[in-house]
Amino acid sequence: MTVALTIIDHPLVADKITRLRDANTDSARFRALCREVTVLTAYEALRDLPTTTIQVTTPIATTDATILAGRAPAVVGVLRAGLIMVEAILALVPEARVGHIGLFRDPTTHLPVEYYRKLPTDLDQRATILVDPMLATGGSAVAAIALLKAAGAASIRLISIIGCPEGVAAVQRDHPDVSITLAAMDDGLDDHAYIVPGLGDAGDRLYGTH
Ligand code: PRP
Ligand code: URA
Repeated sequence: MTVALTIIDHPLVADKITRLRDANTDSARFRALCREVTVLTAYEALRDLPTTTIQVTTPIATTDATILAGRAPAVVGVLRAGLIMVEAILALVPEARVGHIGLFRDPTTHLPVEYYRKLPTDLDQRATILVDPMLATGGSAVAAIALLKAAGAASIRLISIIGCPEGVAAVQRDHPDVSITLAAMDDGLDDHAYIVPGLGDAGDRLYGTH
């Protein structure tokens, strides 16, 4: 069974995505917009996190109240561009453990090449949130999810800012158990495997290396 694909349908997200797409948006504003879109998208993607009930004593009374169950989630960013989304998720879930996977796309084959990996050791006991702004061919996400599963992760959610049908199909084909949440779904890929209309190279725009 293939689990959910969710595409955010919200005027605030749509407005921010438009500003991200705009080639005139500078890196500082681009980073701020990525953080804001990530928070709004994660709000939806994390809707099904397990919860439990505890008692809390307010200044007025003791009451049953809801908290996240079990160990805090792990958030894993795909370097470089996923870093900005890690920061945003940490603002929502400050207790989260953080992992990093370094991948770059080979410019000729467009296939992901791994250059770094540091993950929490108990992923089997945490919800794992994989973040990468761009889901293009899906090669990077497919490879990152395979690494997470090899490290024990059993409950994985992928959050991206912009995806396209090719990337979604690749993840659903290889990892049908992974939920995908996108802030926007675009038309497809160009000859260089960039998303169209997309926003260009996310890492370069975030860090001013274009
Ligand atoms: C981008 C992006 C994804 C990948 C998506 O990274 O952040 O990791 O491309 O493409 P795919 O779905 O076709 O694999 P990039 O290789 O540009 O590296 P960077 O973040 O270091 O710039
Ligand atoms: N990586 C990016 O940063 N942008 C794309 O459009 C595709 C891959």
